[in-house]
Amino acid sequence: MKATALAHPNIALVKYWGKRDDALILPHQSSLSLTLSPLSVTTTVEFGVPTDAVEINGHTSKGSERERVLRLLESVRAQTKDALGPAKVVSRGDFPMAAGLASSAAGFAALAVAGRAAAGLPSDARAASILARLGSGSACRSVEGGFCEWQRGERPDGDDSFAVQRFDAAHWPDLRMVVAVLDRGEKDVKSRDGMKQTVETSPYYPAWVRDAEEEVPRARAHIARRDLQALGELCERNAWRMHSTSLAADPPLCYLNAGTLGLIQHLREHRKKGIPVWFTLDAGPNPVLLTDAANEVAAEALARACGALDVIRCVPGGDAALKQEHL
Ligand code: PMV
Repeated sequence: MKATALAHPNIALVKYWGKRDDALILPHQSSLSLTLSPLSVTTTVEFGVPTDAVEINGHTSKGSERERVLRLLESVRAQTKDALGPAKVVSRGDFPMAAGLASSAAGFAALAVAGRAAAGLPSDARAASILARLGSGSACRSVEGGFCEWQRGERPDGDDSFAVQRFDAAHWPDLRMVVAVLDRGEKDVKSRDGMKQTVETSPYYPAWVRDAEEEVPRARAHIARRDLQALGELCERNAWRMHSTSLAADPPLCYLNAGTLGLIQHLREHRKKGIPVWFTLDAGPNPVLLTDAANEVAAEALARACGALDVIRCVPGGDAALKQEHL
């Protein structure tokens, strides 16, 4: 009735931006990401306690975060014959303070894997991915390591909307992602709200959906050949297109700030000098640089020269996994 799992965050190379079903978290388009080590979140789930309790990074969880955790566990209960009773959840991330990286993907992936194990359900990456998706969409891509593709699926119940691993972490061990933390603040508009605003008001949204869906197989082909330049170019244009469709929302959504643009300009100068480095950008101002092992030091120096407060160098990460020690 008690289990603990560790999962890594992921950063999308082809982003997920917009839901066709808000409750089940079903996306309009497929997406593709890289799972990142060494960052991780560890989560312990114990069923059969007196009342539901959720503690994240030492704080009692409240509001929508708590609701999402409990909703995910409700789905675990629905899959077992036994009466599992209330659950205690304790979760802890090892991310540097205010890294600016969303820990929710790793957190919900660890919760899904630990929750299933605590309920006595067998290890099953597909079922865990569907479960993690109910916590936060991108979490379905953190159940497995390496390069994972979240297939949008067609079914209204979401049973075919989960992530599959296309290549494991060992496929491209030299690939690097360098997180440039330019701003430690909370973002103004959460991805959930930003997506909704974009889907409902951006005239560019249908074009985004079409284009992103077409980019996924291209990204897969570049990864298969370990073609950093082709993947970097694809990754940048996909980030620009996600931000363009958001900028065209009403009211407009601008996640970039002056520091973000400054870094992007310097990045281009670096490329002209022959340093292979590209960026991607989630729903916030902190770019993540895509490069290789030979150039990660140069990428870090670039980020620091452009005002990064923290820089986190990441390598391809592995699958979410059960651990013996509980929190
Ligand atoms: O899964 P959420 O609700 O945190 O949304 C993630 C959205 C992006 O990070 C911007 C893109 C992605 O695919 O991870």
